[in-house]
Amino acid sequence: MFCAYFHDTDAEFRNTGLERAGNLTKDLAWFKEEGHFIPELLSPGIDYSLYIEELSKKDPQAFICHIYNIYFGHTAGGQMIGRKVSAKILNGKELEFYKWDGDLPQLLQKVRDKLNKVAQDWTRDEKNHCLEENEKCFKFNIEIMRLIVA
Ligand code: HEM
Repeated sequence: MFCAYFHDTDAEFRNTGLERAGNLTKDLAWFKEEGHFIPELLSPGIDYSLYIEELSKKDPQAFICHIYNIYFGHTAGGQMIGRKVSAKILNGKELEFYKWDGDLPQLLQKVRDKLNKVAQDWTRDEKNHCLEENEKCFKFNIEIMRLIVA
């Protein structure tokens, strides 16, 4: 039953229009063309992706905490950071990472509604578990940001 429930949840959050991998790939190609060195994957990113993959198989509440933080964070502070980086070091180049197909507020609202719908069926303990995962989510992501800054 748990698996059936989880696969339904998982499917809800696929192809939401917020996914960034395709756009990021285009940006990396552009950076390479510009003569920048693209580093190999390093441990903070690898650790995080392995951790998320594991959660996606066994812990829907914790996994959803990451879905919210990553996708919504990129559209909020992420866009602000992107604009500053672009103005300061990329001569105003608009990165693909900060372009979404369709109306972004609408895409976000659809995902927000789905998140609320899924969480409606959770017990208080499951909700708390999702909230507590926030600390780990920030820890992993701050490690990745440290690496970018280093
Ligand atoms: C240098 C580090 C960061 C900066 C400067 C930053 C900045 C911001 C700013 C300015 C906002 C918008 C606040 C508003 O308009 O009300 C925001 C929202 C947000 N950030 Fe960050 N942030 C950072 C790191 C992170 C990290 C590591 C995560 C999680 C992995 C994260 C997740 C979020 C989320 C979930 C929101 C709210 C999005 C929403 O309400 O739609 N941020 N951040």
